[in-house]
Amino acid sequence: MYNLGRAGLTYWSPNINVVRDPRRGRLQRHQEKTLLWLLCAPTTVLMAFLATCADPRLLKGTIRGEWDLHGYIVSDCDSIQVMVDNHKWLGDTKEDVVAQVLKAGKHTIPEAAREGAVLLKNINESLPLDSAKFKNIAVIGPHANSTAAMVGNCAGVPCRYVTPLDGISSFGEVIYEMGCGEMACRNDSLFFPAMEAAKKADATLLLVGLDLSIEAESLDREDLLLPGYQTQLINQVAQVYRGPVILIIMSAGGRGIADVVFGKYNPKGRLPLTWYESSYVDMLPMTSMPLRPVDSFSYPGRTYKFYNGAAVYPFGYGLSYTEFGNELASPAEAYLEIKLNKHQQCHDLNHTSEGYSQRDKDGSEVVMVYSKPPDGVSGAHAKQVIGFERVFAAAGKSNKVRFSFNACKSLAIVDTTGYKVFPSDVHKITVGYGGLLFFVRVSFNH
Ligand SMILES: *[C@@H]1O[C@H](CO)[C@@H](O)[C@H](O)[C@H]1NC(C)=O
Ligand SMILES: *[C@@H]1O[C@H](CO)[C@@H](O)[C@H](O)[C@H]1NC(C)=O
Ligand SMILES: *[C@@H]1O[C@H](CO)[C@@H](O)[C@H](O)[C@H]1NC(C)=O
Ligand SMILES: *[C@@H]1O[C@H](CO)[C@@H](O)[C@H](O)[C@H]1NC(C)=O
Repeated sequence: MYNLGRAGLTYWSPNINVVRDPRRGRLQRHQEKTLLWLLCAPTTVLMAFLATCADPRLLKGTIRGEWDLHGYIVSDCDSIQVMVDNHKWLGDTKEDVVAQVLKAGKHTIPEAAREGAVLLKNINESLPLDSAKFKNIAVIGPHANSTAAMVGNCAGVPCRYVTPLDGISSFGEVIYEMGCGEMACRNDSLFFPAMEAAKKADATLLLVGLDLSIEAESLDREDLLLPGYQTQLINQVAQVYRGPVILIIMSAGGRGIADVVFGKYNPKGRLPLTWYESSYVDMLPMTSMPLRPVDSFSYPGRTYKFYNGAAVYPFGYGLSYTEFGNELASPAEAYLEIKLNKHQQCHDLNHTSEGYSQRDKDGSEVVMVYSKPPDGVSGAHAKQVIGFERVFAAAGKSNKVRFSFNACKSLAIVDTTGYKVFPSDVHKITVGYGGLLFFVRVSFNH
């Protein structure tokens, strides 16, 4: 909702575009353009017939109808303006164009930004902080008072910002120190007051990361590290702390941080991309396109589907304050005998997994299901997501989640020439981070 810079908000969540290289400056923007949000753009080819943003057949027919997608659809930042001013679409007035766009199927829904917070580590269960025990909080870092990172590349002007600092202030006394002069953190001249703050406080929150001055649509990164002296700031502060130190890495989004830290919200976000080790950037040029690993070049491949190297955190990773157990409720093996004939149809497979919460907290968990093709199929992906479901379980209780998938869609692989093939033999279905295994034996008969 850019509204030509006059008003608006961005609500963006995980990714529908392939993030081929983590250095790419358009990554933040990719992350903005999502499963819930579909983007229509005035592409030149389609414009010859009908602007995609005002095309009821695409928006209503294909997206709402065929794809059954009921999230909201936005135009690319300036698409509507481009339709009027540059394409002079059907010679319409501005009002006409807006009406066309609305009629073609747009509407909006609010979305809770805190759902995007991903908890990566919680040593000794330091989180959530009890605000009755931790009264003086040092809030340190170039993102502590930032508003810029909360709005993305295509931002408008929100009615109100709640900075991390504002949010945390409502839970206790705050001692604020930037630690860095700017996001690029060019020197350590502000470290001393930051360390003094951490020494005094009951707990320390470090808010570091990137913003559009570091990574943007025309600004790629050269490495995967925190900018400038940010890492040194973390290390220095961590040497003098008194209470727990909480590290918060932000790129875009950021309301609700305080709610997560102080346990008013139980985090359940998952990483929408792989966190590669920093050496990743030395293994492949940014301009390389292949997704598949090439062992003879020590090329590790790209994306969670193909990457075969070590990751700092894998795609889909994320903790919550509730510990979940998972159990297969249906048998761990299925046979799929497919008769090859002219009218062959693909089978639905159903699978039930039982999740239960073990700790004394209610919680919900995103159960992700992956398929892995049989061993030895050349060019096959390592795994792919075939479904996910958010499941709620009350403390100590269990709850069943049922998955149904279509064998052709979920077990097929795309070969190196772009054809979809369905290999026979043992396919593996894993639930969560790979703990639970379910086998599907596929055979073909004439
Ligand atoms: C976690 O707790 C253990 C046992 O109390 C302690 O030895 C360790 O230092 C703690 N770790 C951190 C990072 O505080
Ligand atoms: C936070 O930033 C705003 C401007 O963006 C400024 O007005 C305010 O004084 C800052 N807060 C602190 C505690 O420095
Ligand atoms: C350190 O960086 C700040 C800007 O953040 C700048 O004003 C200052 O001059 C720098 N100091 C040194 C010693 O370079
Ligand atoms: C799988 O579940 C669907 C919907 O619940 C059902 O229609 C279908 O018959 C089931 N398939 C098998 C193989 O059990």
